Amino acid sequence: MKGVVLAGGLGTRLRPLTRVTNKHLLPVYNKPMIFYPIQTLVDAGIRDIMLVTGGNNAGDFLRLFGNGEDFGLSQMNYAYQKNEGGIAEALALAKTFVGEDKVAVILGDNFVQGTIKQAVEDFEVQPQGAKIFLKEVENPCDFGVAELKGDKVVRIIEKPESPPSHYAVVGIYMYDASVFDICDHLDPSDRGELEITDVNNEYIRRGAMTYEVLEGWWADCGSFEALLRSNLLVAREHGMDV
Ligand code: DAU
Repeated sequence: MKGVVLAGGLGTRLRPLTRVTNKHLLPVYNKPMIFYPIQTLVDAGIRDIMLVTGGNNAGDFLRLFGNGEDFGLSQMNYAYQKNEGGIAEALALAKTFVGEDKVAVILGDNFVQGTIKQAVEDFEVQPQGAKIFLKEVENPCDFGVAELKGDKVVRIIEKPESPPSHYAVVGIYMYDASVFDICDHLDPSDRGELEITDVNNEYIRRGAMTYEVLEGWWADCGSFEALLRSNLLVAREHGMDV
């Protein structure tokens, strides 16, 4: 399975921290933010990884990663997102890299405590479709939220005013190669982006979506509060009493 890490976008919600650098290069405890999602893919056994980034600081990622030596990789693949057209637009740039393989996609500002190795292995043998992770949260309005019927996800609503559940959609997604056809046919949302939630809803419509509830903590870095929380969670993992 191929891996894709998405680190484009402007990180406007974190200004002025992101005025002169890319959000994913900001520190989280003792490493740049982007190290953690890459490590999650590597720990799951994924070795063939593409980083998609954009903006004015894209060159910094090359200096940071080189050929992926810090992660025991022999090569790192890069793509450049010219605009901030959304998560699905960034993913579409990995089409040639992924080819006919399956792909695990992780957002560059998402952290998980545990491993996703078992889920990756389960998806390897899933004949087709997609798999997402859900996590129960107190603030579902900040995320994509799953509407569940029995043990099925019947719909995902992006940042709903009245959330249908407390299950947020984590920024880690696994897809078969048909994801790129789906991305090609998306229309921009009200916020002018190609939404990953629309991709996931298409898999749900086809009856081809499975999910797993994530164990351990999950955090993203979309706001100052979330960035601080991520720092604290990671510091505690290192034994700090904070
Ligand atoms: O963190 C999980 C949430 O991430 C999900 O629950 C939502 O369904 C999903 O839409 C997403 O919501 P956000 O509003 O937090 O996404 P954001 O715009 O902050 O982008 C998250 C990451 O995606 C960002 O760190 C880098 C990547 N990205 C984003 C955009 C808009 C790109 O690579 N290119 C882009 O154009």
